[in-house]
Amino acid sequence: MGRMAAVGTVGALAGLGTLGQGLIAPALASSKSQGASQKAEADLSPPPQKSSHVLMDRPTDWSDATTYNNFYEFGTQKSDPVRHAPGRLKLRPWTLTVDGLVGKPKTYSVDDLFQLATLEERVYRMRCVEGWSMVIPWAGYSLSHLISRAQPLGSAKYVEFTTLNDAQMMPGLSSRVLEWPYREGLRMDEAMHSLTLLTLGMYGKPLPAQNGGPVRFVVPWKYGFKSAKSIVRIRLTETQPVCSWHLSAPHEYGFYSNVNPSVAHRRWSQATERRIGEDSLFAARRPTLPFNGYAEAVESLYRGMDLRRNF
Ligand code: MTE
Repeated sequence: MGRMAAVGTVGALAGLGTLGQGLIAPALASSKSQGASQKAEADLSPPPQKSSHVLMDRPTDWSDATTYNNFYEFGTQKSDPVRHAPGRLKLRPWTLTVDGLVGKPKTYSVDDLFQLATLEERVYRMRCVEGWSMVIPWAGYSLSHLISRAQPLGSAKYVEFTTLNDAQMMPGLSSRVLEWPYREGLRMDEAMHSLTLLTLGMYGKPLPAQNGGPVRFVVPWKYGFKSAKSIVRIRLTETQPVCSWHLSAPHEYGFYSNVNPSVAHRRWSQATERRIGEDSLFAARRPTLPFNGYAEAVESLYRGMDLRRNF
């Protein structure tokens, strides 16, 4: 979202061109070959179970899904995450703490998370607020399994997600493009919705670093930036959490950020999208679907709300 970032952050972004280039180490292999080498990663064992959450859309190629990424902790260009995250972002040991307004706070290792529930394969659409989309077979389980274990208190109304904040591993943290750590938030009922996926894998393999390994979450009916990567903390709160993009440009990136073709971003329409992998000159942009195609499952969460105001 860098070049598209808010007018209010233009000052901070002015040096990004050079900054982004400065982050690229010259000796690194090309992004495609690094993405492809990740393919050698062992398959998840046992393999994730097929679930009913399967789309008829053709999944995006692995080579696109792992080389065209937004992960600003590694730079603002789409090719930065695959250049800088694999190897540098240490995926083990890794812990994820669930705390805040809960009866049973706990810190989990990644192995604990793999054991906590049966991994399902879910093929979800992913729609970035920038106007492109992919179709990704994720592996994980409903985030509600993890949150329920913590025994949420009645006062818990929201869930805050925090990404790792480690300048040694994440060269992009030296940029002021966002206030670090990357933080996102959901309302409690959104976090507990069965579609919200605690995600540990994709394409039958453990989640690669550039896609938010070893653990992220995915909310398929919201713009992609809500789905924070490489998370270390899930905190239940009474008040609406501060979210990084909302903080940087509240008029452009709302707290809800449900995919909505009829509410334009301040600087571009959200009515259509470009499906990554279908980029020929003749490929038509696709119409964007309300709630990214998940309206039937989730629109009741927003009954009575003005979705133009609560964008
Ligand atoms: N999470 C962190 N920690 N940092 C980021 O920059 N970018 C978001 C989201 N999660 C981002 C993040 C955006 S804008 C998108 S579109 C998706 O991750 C991209 O996920 P993908 O690269 O796995 O497709």
